[in-house]
Amino acid sequence: MPILETNQVIRQFRQYDRVVTAVNRASVSIEDGEFVAIIGSSGSGKSTFINLCAGLDMPNSGSIRIQGQDITQMKPDQLCAFRGKYIGFVFQSCRLVPYLTALENITLPLTAADRSFERYEERLKLLISKLGLSDRLQHLPSELSGGQQQRVAIARALIHYPQILFADEPTGNLDRESANEVLDLLLSVRAELKQTLIIVTHDPQIAARADRILRMDNGVLSVWRGERAKSG
Ligand SMILES: Nc1ncnc2c1ncn2[C@@H]1O[C@H](COP(=O)(O)OP(=O)(O)OP(=O)(O)O)[C@@H](O)[C@H]1O
Ligand SMILES: [Mg+2]
Repeated sequence: MPILETNQVIRQFRQYDRVVTAVNRASVSIEDGEFVAIIGSSGSGKSTFINLCAGLDMPNSGSIRIQGQDITQMKPDQLCAFRGKYIGFVFQSCRLVPYLTALENITLPLTAADRSFERYEERLKLLISKLGLSDRLQHLPSELSGGQQQRVAIARALIHYPQILFADEPTGNLDRESANEVLDLLLSVRAELKQTLIIVTHDPQIAARADRILRMDNGVLSVWRGERAKSG
């Protein structure tokens, strides 16, 4: 069973007197453990599409199944619990909470879901050391560099062991070297957890490392490199 399967997903937005079809009949099937990159020009619908896949937005029509369950049919509280269990998300801008320290930001998903910290302590230590954040934990986001903020956002997205990690331009604001470092980290965590990783990126060097590249073109999703997507 694929871990993520979308079928004929459509998302339209009203902009003044016209309707924009940001995602147009997107159908794709992603296997558990796959690393998929989504490329495409600005405004082509990449963020809209992964927001839908992660249950952060709802399509006008079509189905989105994660581990066989159609998230478009879930009630809000059911979806919220489902996301808390299976999905991690790194936003295009880090979206850290400005008045919380790095550590508090990282553990926010646990606080929100009322999970016991002890169970996640090993995990927390591992992420902090892998991400090189040990001496930055008590700092506020404004006291961190862009790359450090991005790493805090990644730790926050991974703290609850999500089976799928979505990342929207996780290296967009970073220089070449930091971008490669962040990707190496994502890939090493993925190898350890056998996670599925879906990254939106403008960076050809990052896309080149994916198992499969999907391309979004004016809302239409197609396979750029790789075999397994269904035709839309
Ligand atoms: N909330 C919204 N309301 C109205 N239109 C929206 C909304 N979100 C996205 N759009 C429109 O949908 C289209 C796709 O936007 P989206 O953000 O998905 O593009 P993108 O491929 O992620 O671009 P970028 O590479 O610049 O991040 C754009 O035309 C955008 O203006
Ligand atoms: Mg975007």
